[in-house]
Amino acid sequence: MQKTVIAVFAILSCVAGAPTYDGRIVDGGVASSGQFPYVVSLTENNRHFCSGFIYNERWVVTTASCVSGKSSSALRVVVGQQDLTSPDPYEEIITVYRIKIFDRYDAGNQSNDLALVQLTKNITFNTGGVYFINYNEVDAKNPEATVMGWGATQEGGFESTRLHYAVADIQSSTSCGDYITGSEFQLATMLCAQSSATSANAGAPCQYDEGSPLVQIIQSKLTAVGIMSKNKGCSVDLPSVYTRLSVYYAWFLQTAGQQPVDETTVPTSEPQATDPITTEGVLVTTEEIVVTTELVTQEITTIVEDIVTDEVTDAVPF
Ligand SMILES: *[C@@H]1O[C@H](CO)[C@@H](O)[C@H](O)[C@H]1NC(C)=O
Ligand SMILES: *[C@@H]1O[C@H](CO)[C@@H](O)[C@H](O)[C@H]1NC(C)=O
Repeated sequence: MQKTVIAVFAILSCVAGAPTYDGRIVDGGVASSGQFPYVVSLTENNRHFCSGFIYNERWVVTTASCVSGKSSSALRVVVGQQDLTSPDPYEEIITVYRIKIFDRYDAGNQSNDLALVQLTKNITFNTGGVYFINYNEVDAKNPEATVMGWGATQEGGFESTRLHYAVADIQSSTSCGDYITGSEFQLATMLCAQSSATSANAGAPCQYDEGSPLVQIIQSKLTAVGIMSKNKGCSVDLPSVYTRLSVYYAWFLQTAGQQPVDETTVPTSEPQATDPITTEGVLVTTEEIVVTTELVTQEITTIVEDIVTDEVTDAVPF
């Protein structure tokens, strides 16, 4: 992703203070306060660098590529944030206890791009401002999804970007744009999403949007299905790759425990089963990984064997 594009975007956002379209990045819309209470800003030395979402009181989900090589003592998780520069009603800055990178994360092709960040204290779930979101498998029958983030922040005064969002469709193809199928994109563990240019809130995530959740409404319930991992530019014409969260159910459970259930958006009927996704021996069906009030044992542990318990200390360029 190009910094020039980011800079242009940041300037436009600051000056206009409204959704901006610079021809390459589409800012679908500026979020209203409390619209996305589950999204958090990750900061390093007080500077936003990635997003994440609230898994439960103590844990935040983000990408491995976001936090790999970072020292937990330098990181903060900001919940309830809307504007990066001014205090928001529910904003709280929380220190990080440890970072857990998914052990099979491959920095080369960003496969298994997933990490959990444990906080030093519980997040307080306020009314409206701060809340968690349950994750689950994609609803392939209704591909529309929303991604949100502070994106496009830039050193030297461009951190004031407000939270914005864009709508994209999750693709069902085994390929994803220019990504090489197999080595760079794998449908079993990743999602490919791209806006339809004609969509009212079309957009694409950009730099500093990594780790942001991709959210669908599944059976009337807001559901995180992916986290922004990589793209080859912020153009609305290009797809972005997200980590497919449902695949990592066993790891989430072992590392961060069971999620609470969002009582405010509990589905009124059973989630529908969708066609199984079969890629290189990994079988994923929604029936196996539906996350509801109960623990679900499933068979996708083949790629989710071990848990990394080490704290990340290696210096890996971000
Ligand atoms: C943090 O939240 C968990 C889960 O609700 C709860 O069991 C625990 O008692 C809380 N801890 C504190 C210190 O409030
Ligand atoms: C990523 O690279 C590793 C090591 O080269 C390879 O084993 C794996 O299949 C690749 N994964 C994806 C999703 O492309």
